Amino acid sequence: MAQPPNVHDAEPIPAAAREAIDALMQSGDLFRYTAPENAPVTLLEQEYAALLGSKYALAVSSCSAALFLSLKALGLPRDARVLIPAFTFAAVPSSVVHADCVPVLCEVGDNYRIDMADFASKLDSVQAVIISHMRGHTSDMDAIMALCDARGIPVVEDAAHSLGTTWNGQNIGTMGKVGCFSFQSYKMVNAGEGGILITDDADLIARAVIMSGAYEHNWKKHKGPRGENAPDLEQAFAKWQNQLPLYNLRMSNLSAAVIRPQLPELARRVRDGLKNHDYVAERLNASPFFDVPAPLTPERRAPDSIQFNLVGLTEEQICAFASAADAKGVKVQVFGLSQDNARAFWNWQFLRDIPELPKTRAMLMKACDVRLPVRLSREELDVIADILLAAAEETMGKAAA
Ligand SMILES: Cc1ncc(COP(=O)(O)O)c(C=O)c1O
Repeated sequence: MAQPPNVHDAEPIPAAAREAIDALMQSGDLFRYTAPENAPVTLLEQEYAALLGSKYALAVSSCSAALFLSLKALGLPRDARVLIPAFTFAAVPSSVVHADCVPVLCEVGDNYRIDMADFASKLDSVQAVIISHMRGHTSDMDAIMALCDARGIPVVEDAAHSLGTTWNGQNIGTMGKVGCFSFQSYKMVNAGEGGILITDDADLIARAVIMSGAYEHNWKKHKGPRGENAPDLEQAFAKWQNQLPLYNLRMSNLSAAVIRPQLPELARRVRDGLKNHDYVAERLNASPFFDVPAPLTPERRAPDSIQFNLVGLTEEQICAFASAADAKGVKVQVFGLSQDNARAFWNWQFLRDIPELPKTRAMLMKACDVRLPVRLSREELDVIADILLAAAEETMGKAAA
């Protein structure tokens, strides 16, 4: 069998980033608010908002920071309850705790999407909702928005992994009141670290901008959607001047210089990622031991990894499968079985109390995660699929014997 590919390296950063970084090295102008206008972070915000189709964007230090600022910008009172899916990364309940709120966990089904019956039953007890489109899997946004809108409950979309995903043709991250994205390395756009939030709400963006660290009158460098002076935004900034704490979660010009030349690559990355994912999914789904859940009908995904459930394997066999794949060179993470996994809700022991969520637990005990960077070739995808299939056959063959 051919050598398995390295799935940890990202794509090279486009050469244009080097020129932009060289210019910054020459000028030393790394702070977003030094230049009177057109700082790389400001340009990134305008380009990102235009790309996604929203009015405003605020670039910050991480998606976690974006989630935290979103909750703060919503003006939630201390101890407000925030509904989040129980299948997400530990950074999400952490951002809720950081914002002095209380995470309420909602069940997630075998298809990695929010269990709508559990969601509806818990909605009347919360003041806000964060929808994590975990690993880019989109929950039923029509049902979620209808339920939340009917109650006036604000929705924050955690689109950390969802840049490029659409729902009924609309960009993920633009359906809720705020959308938050990550530029950490294992995402569609890689700056090592970084995040951004988008919204159409002038009051919300003004609050978020000030709290992100636009001290004194630096907010004047945040403009309307086309870089113009926007009276509603200026009024909101004036209203919140000196009224809010400054958490200093700003993005540096260096990160923006790395991100901006990757935005024109996004459409190609999404196309390649989806093609790669669907190819491997088809190969795995042809085996009785694998189930790669289908997307919901309105959803067009932008994956850079694949998740699948193992079918008919005991916990012991699932561990044996993961070890066999690992020995052949493909790292499989079983969310519920790898020690101290940050996506297994029972490991979020910093929470005041962790409920029992049988559906989510059952899913996590059989759900596997394999990285599939968009740059992989068909041959490399075949090596990965061959190894996964062989590991399952080997494990189940031994069991039958
Ligand atoms: C679903 C989800 N939300 C939020 C985050 C936090 O992103 P960041 O590392 O940019 O803070 C992650 C990180 O991978 C994530 O997987």
